[in-house]
Amino acid sequence: MIGTGYVGLVSGACFADLGNTVYCVDKNKEKIDMLNSGEIPIFEPGLNEIVRKNYIANRLKFTNDISNAVKHSDIIFICVGTPTSKKNKSANLSFVFNATKEIRKNINKFKIIVTKSTVPVGTGDKIEKIILMKKKRKLFEVISNPEFLREGEAIRDFRYPDRIVVGSNNKKATKKMEFLYKPLINKGATFFSTKRRGAEMIKYASNAFLATKIAYINEMANLCEKTGINVEEVSLGMGQDKRIGGRFLRAGPAFGGSCFPKDIKAITVTGDEFNTDLSIIKSVIKSNNKRRILLVKKVIKILKNKVKNKKIAVLGVTFKANTDDMRESSSLIMIPFLHKKGAKIKYYDPSGEKKYFKKFKNVSFCENTKEACKNVDLIIIHTEWDEFKTIDFKKITKSKKIKIYDMRNLYSHPKMKRLGLDYYSIGR
Ligand SMILES: NC(=O)c1ccc[n+]([C@@H]2O[C@H](COP(=O)([O-])OP(=O)(O)OC[C@H]3O[C@@H](n4cnc5c(N)ncnc54)[C@H](O)[C@@H]3O)[C@@H](O)[C@H]2O)c1
Repeated sequence: MIGTGYVGLVSGACFADLGNTVYCVDKNKEKIDMLNSGEIPIFEPGLNEIVRKNYIANRLKFTNDISNAVKHSDIIFICVGTPTSKKNKSANLSFVFNATKEIRKNINKFKIIVTKSTVPVGTGDKIEKIILMKKKRKLFEVISNPEFLREGEAIRDFRYPDRIVVGSNNKKATKKMEFLYKPLINKGATFFSTKRRGAEMIKYASNAFLATKIAYINEMANLCEKTGINVEEVSLGMGQDKRIGGRFLRAGPAFGGSCFPKDIKAITVTGDEFNTDLSIIKSVIKSNNKRRILLVKKVIKILKNKVKNKKIAVLGVTFKANTDDMRESSSLIMIPFLHKKGAKIKYYDPSGEKKYFKKFKNVSFCENTKEACKNVDLIIIHTEWDEFKTIDFKKITKSKKIKIYDMRNLYSHPKMKRLGLDYYSIGR
């Protein structure tokens, strides 16, 4: 596995758990040192145990030495990041191409080179071209095997995937990939093989579709708020239609994370390159950007336009529960904005303190919910961590009349009314 991040580490550990010998390579020395000393650099439920078990069994190795890892491997997964490029909205493929060149240097026998990173259509062709500059055709095959795991559920998603997509222009290589995934296929996972470009497209088309679902229900929530309807009921009523499905149909903050925002931007660039207007996806980007501001405006409205010196507790800052990933989280917009307006913010996140907020004078991290909510004017529930679902508000807020903005609809209006709390939620 080249790249030992959320995808490379989880997939590497899980492939080792299936009995393979796996080298997890990363150019980040600190990360590899941590892993070799038994620490896990990311928060992912269940990962620690799998890493430890397979490390002890000597099936899982962590190294900065790509050359040794490549030489010893039959199948090489590229799992490096593909963030949004600084110049435009496209995917920055420099990490992928750098990894490709390093792999190329060390090809000593036939290798299957797999892109697990999310890469635009045609990237496999470019990787192939780069390798062909220095190595013979018969020494390698480039395959696309996009990853669909969700942070926070990554182990389960690896072990019980809805489908495994392999895109290859070579039947023999597809067979080898099928063999690698056999233990999962035997447990019921669908193995779907297609051409390399097809697999690359499936990944983007899937993410763009899921992002569209979220943006869609978020807009419905806006309409529900104006029309006195409960968006939760709308979600349930819609979701029971099998053609629609209930997942990714929960209203909340603007979607974030390391995938949806960057992937939907990247696919519109691909669309433009091929002279195809992906207008729906472009609208989703706009809608989600608007939402980041809309929810901050709502906070200001709840505070009756008096933000200066208001004490605010933010519960959960990651883009979703069960991960420490802050990439594109809507809290990264909301907290600095409220801070700039003069609010004093305390936040608590079960995945720990966040480096990014350290630079703000009046933003501090608390060790638990109780501490964060002590003597505040407003509590914002930003992330749906389980521990925020059973808060005894009366106890933690004592007598003070406190406002609560529940951006995840974890509580019900009647219950909060009974408790005498000034409660606001999304689309209800
Ligand atoms: N995070 C997810 O939930 C998820 C899910 C599906 C797909 N993906 C895709 O998988 C890819 C990786 O995502 P991630 O979240 O794991 O990224 P990440 O940033 O957590 O990890 C990438 C790692 O690659 C390393 N790296 C970069 N260049 C390298 C090189 N030349 N040699 C060795 N290591 C190198 C970095 O140091 C980093 O540790 C992205 O394309 C992403 O879109 C991510």
